[in-house]
Amino acid sequence: FHAIFVTAQGAVMEVKMKKLFAFLASALMVLSLAACSNNGGGNNDKPTDDGGAGTGTDKKVYNVGVSIYKFDDNFMTLYRKEIESYFKTLNTDEVEYKVTIQDGKGDMAEQTNQIDNFIAQDYDALIINLVQATSAATVIDKCEAANKPCIFINREPSEEDMKKDPGMITYVGADARQSGKFQGELIADLPNKGDLNGDGVLQYVMVVGDPENVDAKYRTEFSISQYQEVSGLKVEKLDEQRGDWDQAKGQEIVANALTQYGDKIEAVFCNNDAMALGAAQAITAAGRKVGEDIYLVGVDALAEAMDLVSTGGMTGTVLNDHINQSHKAVDCTVQAINGEKLDAYYWIDYIKVTPENVAQYK
Ligand code: GAL
Repeated sequence: FHAIFVTAQGAVMEVKMKKLFAFLASALMVLSLAACSNNGGGNNDKPTDDGGAGTGTDKKVYNVGVSIYKFDDNFMTLYRKEIESYFKTLNTDEVEYKVTIQDGKGDMAEQTNQIDNFIAQDYDALIINLVQATSAATVIDKCEAANKPCIFINREPSEEDMKKDPGMITYVGADARQSGKFQGELIADLPNKGDLNGDGVLQYVMVVGDPENVDAKYRTEFSISQYQEVSGLKVEKLDEQRGDWDQAKGQEIVANALTQYGDKIEAVFCNNDAMALGAAQAITAAGRKVGEDIYLVGVDALAEAMDLVSTGGMTGTVLNDHINQSHKAVDCTVQAINGEKLDAYYWIDYIKVTPENVAQYK
């Protein structure tokens, strides 16, 4: 088609083609600009300041950056999926929350990069599950300098750090001391108080999450102090090992402890359910039976753990309420985006899960 015009009436037609191209190019430009302002597509479409009441054509799009300490974690996977689906329920014809969730891969440098990028791209708010709680101060300083609200979840920063940038930062979480206490009570409230050999002392093994995490520290400490307080008995720690919240590590640690201490072990406390699931496998493999010759408790109330609680494969667990925690974190994010001041802390209760009440949480 082009070749025919060039040979027949070259000069005239070339001009016409150029005009046509120029027209098409400008039409395309107009179209793509219109597309940008309708669906957001980034931060060129910052919401206007009219308080959220838009018309269908001027939808407000808010960008929320989420960084999870690592994706490869059973409990935080449930938590992050709930953040995502709860945000979706808040989208309307007038408002859209675009949520970007990134994997911190257990690497603080990686997570810092993600936070820097969220800020550089002018995201409206951040939800951060810190890789290292001790890095909170640095993160808060960055957010404060950029005037961005930051909602910390799951890994609690120090009280000192939480005093920074009041109103713009918050911690939404559960008080890990409470989960530890509930674990202690799960054993102390048994008819024999867990003291299978009747020597007045509970011989136990502790499987720790990761020592940098305040949840792990408090569960390790408060499970035992509460056990002693409620039972009035003494304790003897046979073993304490770090299992990084991981099922395979929990299994290995408890298998080794069973080989070393055998029938001496009366109770196994795991800082979370993933490790308790591993412990349950090791206990079965060693020919022991939970509820008869050993006791086992975890935290989180994962579905598999609740199955074990109802069939007697675990003594009990503690519900770590990821539904209410994630919803509260999202609600805080929306409040902050709307310019409301946040409290420093929002607490969600843990719940003790026993064979008697497990059915209602499944
Ligand atoms: C705890 C939870 C663990 C693990 C950890 C990650 O609250 O019980 O399973 O997810 O958080 O920080």
